[in-house]
Amino acid sequence: MKALVLCAGKGTRLRPVTHSTPKHLIPVANREILSYVLYQIAEAGIRDVGIVISPDSGARIRETIADGGKWNLAVSYVVQDVAGGLAHAVKVSRGFLADSEFLMFLGDNLIEGGVAPLVEEFSAKRPDGLVLLKAVADPRRFGVAELDARGQVLRLVEKPKEPKSNLALVGAYVFAPVIHDAIDRIGPSWRGELEITDAIQKLLDMRRTVVSHELQGWWLDTGTRDDILEANRVLLNAGAGRQAVVSGLESGGCGVAPGATLSNCRVVEPVSVAAGCVLRDCCIGPAVSLAANANVSGATISNSILMEGASVAGPLTVTDSIIGARAGVMAKSCVCAARLFIGDDSSIQLS
Ligand code: G1P
Repeated sequence: MKALVLCAGKGTRLRPVTHSTPKHLIPVANREILSYVLYQIAEAGIRDVGIVISPDSGARIRETIADGGKWNLAVSYVVQDVAGGLAHAVKVSRGFLADSEFLMFLGDNLIEGGVAPLVEEFSAKRPDGLVLLKAVADPRRFGVAELDARGQVLRLVEKPKEPKSNLALVGAYVFAPVIHDAIDRIGPSWRGELEITDAIQKLLDMRRTVVSHELQGWWLDTGTRDDILEANRVLLNAGAGRQAVVSGLESGGCGVAPGATLSNCRVVEPVSVAAGCVLRDCCIGPAVSLAANANVSGATISNSILMEGASVAGPLTVTDSIIGARAGVMAKSCVCAARLFIGDDSSIQLS
């Protein structure tokens, strides 16, 4: 089995950070989101991975992931020239996929327990498609599955106005090669995209077998600032409890790395403070990740992510914030609770 990881999305809801850092490379608990995805693929026993990238953000992803050796994977890249939808991404990857069955994983989805259970279920039952479902509060934001009384998939609808259930399609699927025939038979949706949801519905119309698996653990779809901060919180909490975070994989390193320098600081766990950070006269945590070489002085920071080389110089309270790589925030006098969302290399002075 191969894996196809979709990373061509533009991350518009995460601008300005995504102007320079692709959303799949935003660090949560000090590890890139895509890194968790790749670990889970390796853990499921898959080695051949195709990463679908866009012409804009592809270079950064290639640079960071390279040949995938770090994850014990063999990674190839497929460029999706237009934002044509998830099924379009599969279409342009046909050369890589050939006639293999494959796990399709959206590169911004974090799933508790990983994807090994999906791959095992697919291998045991041999359906034409396997979908992962999760009960959510607002299914209108997702693809939604309607099941019959025995739990068989009856219908799938992309972002329905009136959802027939609260079961959203999680961004991890397993397909037999017949999915390509189904994709060839669908047209663009109202948003002008070839939807994978429509292709799976087409499998059902073709009387092919689609089985579903309901996820009991957490699912984080990291499309917005609040989603990213929630993912950071969940992974830090899980790591701090020393549980298997994303099945077997701990977050980037919880606690304070030996190579960080702290003077006169209070640390409220869970936090992840990377090597090279310099912290002075501050209070950090809970739910704070500081990437390598972040610099904080005179500040109280909670529920936030500072990317590599970012700096905050108080007197200042920062909460619910994402501060891009090498960005600097400086306050002249005490500003109460700033909520910041700042792109890479920005400089902000508060007075
Ligand atoms: C896509 C799929 C949707 C699925 C979601 C999961 O939505 O089309 O069915 O529920 O991913 O993250 P999109 O991110 O394209 O809005």
